[in-house]
Amino acid sequence: MWKPDRQSNKPLYEQIADYLEQRISYGEFPPGSLLPSERKLAEQLGVNRSTIIQAFAELRSFGIIESRTGSGTRVSRTKWGATPKHTPNWKRYAEGGSFLPNPPFMRKIREALTDQPSRIDFASGELAADLAPMDEIASLMSAHHYTSYLGYDNPQGYVPLRETLVSYLKRYRSIQTSESSILITSGSQQSLYLITQCLLSPGDAVAIEDPSYCYSLPMFQSAGLRLFRLPVDQHGIRPDDIRTLYKKHRIKMVFLNPNYQNPTGTVLADERREQLLEVASELALPIVEDDPFSLTAYEGNPPAPLKSLDTVGSVLYIGSFSKVAASGLRIGWMVAPRSIVERLADARQQMDFGLSIIPQQVAAQFLKSSHFEPHLERLRIQLQFKRDLLIDTLRKELHDSVIYDIPHGGLHLWCKLLPDVNDGKLLDEAIRRGVVFVPGSVYGSDSSFVRFTFARAKNDEIEPGISRFAEALRSLTSINS
Ligand SMILES: Cc1ncc(COP(=O)(O)O)c(C=O)c1O
Repeated sequence: MWKPDRQSNKPLYEQIADYLEQRISYGEFPPGSLLPSERKLAEQLGVNRSTIIQAFAELRSFGIIESRTGSGTRVSRTKWGATPKHTPNWKRYAEGGSFLPNPPFMRKIREALTDQPSRIDFASGELAADLAPMDEIASLMSAHHYTSYLGYDNPQGYVPLRETLVSYLKRYRSIQTSESSILITSGSQQSLYLITQCLLSPGDAVAIEDPSYCYSLPMFQSAGLRLFRLPVDQHGIRPDDIRTLYKKHRIKMVFLNPNYQNPTGTVLADERREQLLEVASELALPIVEDDPFSLTAYEGNPPAPLKSLDTVGSVLYIGSFSKVAASGLRIGWMVAPRSIVERLADARQQMDFGLSIIPQQVAAQFLKSSHFEPHLERLRIQLQFKRDLLIDTLRKELHDSVIYDIPHGGLHLWCKLLPDVNDGKLLDEAIRRGVVFVPGSVYGSDSSFVRFTFARAKNDEIEPGISRFAEALRSLTSINS
């Protein structure tokens, strides 16, 4: 009996859809015949019912099968009958366009979490429901009268949110700006997208940290950019490396996440910040400062952003609501020279006419409210608690087989495993045991590194999650318990 291949990069539902399509085309299921039920197929193939539902949805979208409530799923008569009707080859279209697909590991993780949401999630870089300010946001939403008119708004972003961000940036990030220099985006992701698509051209060389969140984004390759690496040590990148890359490759832009860097948790050292800004002004090189984690600083004040030290105007600053409040609101912002904001707002108009006003209103209310400061306080304490719980459990389970620097902010712990282990095989073993993490190679690193996000799992999931991970690791190495 055929079974889907769990080691394959191809999602399970696609393998099942292809298999069923083949059986139909061989005539095993003639036009109009009834297919086995979702439950039965799930049992036969050893997968969740939700995977069969996805496979059926795929076949339905090609017109191969039809489902009617109460009468099951049948092979389409129009597609396979006497006068067949031909559906466009959607698969070929789906492989077209200029966007590369996400890295296979990321797709595998997404599938593992959708397939079985009870898996313990050390992979998603976001806050758990108990860390997000859901009650505060709900109470603001019920207390405020939101807009009385929902027309197209300014693609640069809702003016009251931009005004609120002017005070927020001054108070929390020591950045002096005006609302006309702010662009509201759908998370920092869209800021990165707009920069790569609108300010750079295919063939341009850019520098990114190594390892870096940017490696997990095929967005850079889709834009035709050539990526060059700036190795990150305990104190961040070395500014002199930028000079070397500039000489060799004429890099056009540098992308950095200097505060509690994703994935390493590193903070760029103060003296390197100064050197970096000197190099940038010497070479007239723009620096993109991606700063989503600063306000999570567990103890003391967050590091000052490069933008607050930038007297020349080299820095495009990107912020986000995602890692300190709610990723699902999709609120991000960019602080940039007016010419850039106008150019990107114009592109934005062509893309989607701007972000919906409602989440912008909610974000503005929340940032202005008396809830924001206490929420941040609570968030920092709880993140630190989760970090400590994860580290304690790792130590208990894996002793010296895991090496890391303790992060003082952010959501992630970056670990090196000893001895070396193939991170792809480890992910498979972990998924089988009900736990998910991100393999280091997704961030451009050698195998044998892993990123754990400690913010997403519930407190009572952290210990069992790490024990299952340790079991997966032991199954591939000679580490003792
Ligand atoms: C460094 C960094 N930049 C940007 C993003 C994108 O976040 P969002 O679009 O939700 O603001 C992430 C998300 O993980 C990130 O880690």
